[in-house]
Formats: sequence, structure tokens, C-alpha cells
Amino acid sequence: MKRKRVTTFPQRVLIVGGTSGIGRQLAISYLKRGCRVAVTGRRQTLLDALQQEYAGYPLLTRAFDVTDQRVTEELACVVQQLGGVDLCIYAAGYGFGNLPLEEELEVHAVQVNVQAFVKVAVWMYHSWNQQQQAGHFAVISSIAGLRALGVAPGYSATKHFQAFYLKALRQLAVARRSKVHFTSIHPGFVDTDFIKGHQYPMTMSVDRAVACIIKGLDRRKNTLVVDRRWQMIAALMHLIPNGIWTRIGVFFRGSDQVFPHD
Ligand SMILES: NC(=O)c1ccc[n+]([C@@H]2O[C@H](COP(=O)([O-])OP(=O)(O)OC[C@H]3O[C@@H](n4cnc5c(N)ncnc54)[C@H](OP(=O)(O)O)[C@@H]3O)[C@@H](O)[C@H]2O)c1
Repeated sequence: MKRKRVTTFPQRVLIVGGTSGIGRQLAISYLKRGCRVAVTGRRQTLLDALQQEYAGYPLLTRAFDVTDQRVTEELACVVQQLGGVDLCIYAAGYGFGNLPLEEELEVHAVQVNVQAFVKVAVWMYHSWNQQQQAGHFAVISSIAGLRALGVAPGYSATKHFQAFYLKALRQLAVARRSKVHFTSIHPGFVDTDFIKGHQYPMTMSVDRAVACIIKGLDRRKNTLVVDRRWQMIAALMHLIPNGIWTRIGVFFRGSDQVFPHD
């Protein structure tokens, strides 16, 4: 028997980390769909520019750093202003190819991609549950989170954590009869500032990535690899035995780069 496809359309969307790139384009796409949208990020000038460009749309913005102690207070303000949230997407992210293994870069990836992410996810989960509301929480993880990468240890490990954490929350939500749903999104290379100045294979446009993400979110997928070509790469990555995967690191011998922002 064919399984019934569940499709949902959120009315109120919160994008944490939407001043540029994937988060910004997601915000624009949801605005054009008629949703009320809130966008956060640190760069006030970019938030102002977005607000100006989409004047007349139900858009609100708030500048804050997700690693700030006050992150949950900031969230509470933005959610109250929005009048509640149906879908929250954590798009804020930090990470580098870090062959020299610089400690500061590794630790900062943990702060943004793990500590702040957990604070936002937990706060949203409780907020929805306290009001006995349905909610959808998604994170932009990465293809890099599917297997450990020696070229970017902090980045790949923290992106893996995000998906693993949402899997755990999904199980918890079922146990608690919570109406919160979780999606981890794993894009391949997307043409944003994140990879600026570097040529990577199979880089997709932000528009393409976002169209694919929104389709997957509408269908309430648990895990979403963006796009089809990267789904095949992801399947291949999983097939490679651990011993061989570990030796793949020899390709990076002789390089001591921090990238893409070196
Ligand atoms: N581009 C790719 O190839 C690719 C591939 C796989 C996954 N991803 C993931 O996609 C997500 C979005 O990245 P992107 O490609 O769209 O790059 P981007 O344009 O650099 O966007 C990153 C966003 O994160 C926000 N952010 C970073 N640190 C923050 C902090 N401490 N507090 C608040 N906001 C913060 C930035 O806003 P402010 O700087 O204004 O704070 C910006 O809006 C990231 O999680 C990244 O890991 C990207």
C-alpha cells in the first residue's frame, strides 16, 4: 500500500542566522509564500537591507549573536513579536577546513554549531510543549556531518552532532507525546559566502538548494540531503569501509591550509 504523503505549510517562520546565504533565501521564499517571517543574525546592516527590500511584507528582524548568554531572552522577544512560531530553522553556522588544527577555530565551531544550537533547539521544544502546540524545528547541518572529515574536524563533528541530537529529540518527542517535529538538512556545496573564493565540485545555487529544502520541509522529512546528486554521494560515502575512509586523509598530505576563509 502506498504511504500517504504528509504536507504542511507553516504560517510563522523563524530563521536563526538569516542575514545572508541559505537562511536569507529561505526567509525570502517563505515571505513570498505569504508567511510571517522573523530573521536573526549579527549583522544589523544586512537585516536593515532585507527589511528595506521587503518593506510591505510581514517581516521582522532582530540582531543578536547566538553565542551570547542572552540568546534565549532574545528568542523569547522575537517569538513574542512574531506571535508564535510554526517552523524554526537554525541556519547559523561556523566552520573551516582546518588542516593546521587551530584550536580557536575548532572551539568556535563547537560554540555556534553545538552550544548555541542546543540552547535554541531546547528553548523551542519547551516553548511549543508548554503551549501544547505543534512545531517544526530544522537545522542546516551539512553533507560534512555524514562522515568524519579530517580536513575539517570541528566542522564535520559539530554538523554530525546536530543531526544526531535531533534524532534523539525526535525519540523524546514521541515518548512525551509532543507535537514537535525535527528535520536535519544536509546540503552539499552551496554558492554562498560560506565557500566564497573557492571552487568546489557540484556547487549548487542558493535558489536550487532552498527550493529543495522547502520541498523537504513541507513533506516533513526527518533527514534531507540536498540535492539528488548529493544524495548519491552521501550513499557512496556510507558504503566506504572505515579503514579506507581513514586513509582518504592522505590526499591532504602536504597541505596546511585553513579554508575557505584563509
Ligand atoms: N554554503 C555551503 O556550501 C554549505 C554547505 C553545507 C552546509 N552549510 C550550512 O548552511 C548554513 C548557512 O550557511 P550559508 O552557506 O548560508 O553561509 P552564510 O551566508 O555565511 O550564512 C551563515 C549565517 O549564519 C549566521 N551566523 C554565523 N555565526 C553566527 C552567530 N554567532 N550568531 C548569529 N548568527 C550567526 C550569519 O549571520 P551573521 O554573520 O550576520 O551573524 C549568516 O546569516 C551554515 O550552518 C552552514 O554550515 C553551508
